[in-house]
Amino acid sequence: MKSTFAGLDLGDEAFATDVADALGRVEDLLLAELSSGDEILTEAATHLAKAGGKRFRPMFAILASYFGPDPAGEDVITAATVVEMIHLATLYHDDVMDEAPLRRGAQSANSRWTNSIAILAGDFLFARASRLVSTLGPDSVRIIAETFAELVTGQMRETVGARGGDAVDHYLRVVWEKTGSLIAAAGRFGSMTSGADTVTVETLAKIGDIVGVAFQVSDDIIDIASVTGDSGKTPGTDVREGVHTLPVLYALAGDGPDTARLRELLLDPATGEARPLTDDAEVDEALHLLVASDGMARAQARLAQMADDAHAALATLPECPARAAFASLVDYTVARVG
Ligand code: IPE
Ligand code: IPE
Ligand code: MG
Ligand code: MG
Repeated sequence: MKSTFAGLDLGDEAFATDVADALGRVEDLLLAELSSGDEILTEAATHLAKAGGKRFRPMFAILASYFGPDPAGEDVITAATVVEMIHLATLYHDDVMDEAPLRRGAQSANSRWTNSIAILAGDFLFARASRLVSTLGPDSVRIIAETFAELVTGQMRETVGARGGDAVDHYLRVVWEKTGSLIAAAGRFGSMTSGADTVTVETLAKIGDIVGVAFQVSDDIIDIASVTGDSGKTPGTDVREGVHTLPVLYALAGDGPDTARLRELLLDPATGEARPLTDDAEVDEALHLLVASDGMARAQARLAQMADDAHAALATLPECPARAAFASLVDYTVARVG
């Protein structure tokens, strides 16, 4: 199982050991919480946690805690675990919505069992996350409730589509809601539970906003450009679902040599709306054209700009090993393949 970040430079050894130790405590708490229900739930509820995952959000929360007086304290570990539990729960539900067969290199819960089991397992994770966050007090419960509502709003907005509004604006709003909001909550929560001052907490939430949006843009690039296996997910899931992500929107708006063919493949000729692709050969062709398109280059340039913005926001924090680790995390976010 790959539970931490391969290749992430955490700088000095004592700091790296502390962070690894904190992530290990998150892992223990996570599995204990997910295994704490009736035996009938445990296999499905622990399935995705055991399958792997990067633990990006716990890492984000733990690094954020180093900007307060109690880094990697008990409450920080609880907060980091809650955020991963919310993330995991949404993955169960997202795979039902996307009819995704693979997750974290394993069969998704919906494909291994059924949609009903995947939905119920996700619900159980939300329930356990709510129980756990209640130990941190009402402010924390409110932050998680608001974040979760934002996340669901993003999933809803993506499902409903742009409805004639500006498609890129719609996309950027969706990615902040569905992904940026939770990574921002990781920054907020990690620093807050460590006792950081308000300005610092807001800065870490802001960095989470920027990195979170970049993280989803990079996920959307990976869905088009990755080779099966690297991401532990099935490439092309977004075009199959008729979800047009940033490279697609830019490619369709451009005038590159393959634009006409991409429009034919990806748009419904009657309505001009996104058309879900069901034919494997069409998915393959669309992905190949997209990888080589101007739209992909533009999306990558926009992602690089987001990384610059994140680095600029980081520069306002005091210099320390956690700040250097955050800088590597930003670089990892734009360069990752899985
Ligand atoms: C996948 O998140 C869903 C997105 C918001 C892009 P991750 O890429 O963090 O998935 P895991 O946790 O490593 O499996
Ligand atoms: C969903 O985005 C993000 C959330 C689960 C909130 P995607 O549908 O792109 O995520 P993946 O690619 O399946 O992980
Ligand atoms: Mg999905
Ligand atoms: Mg995706």
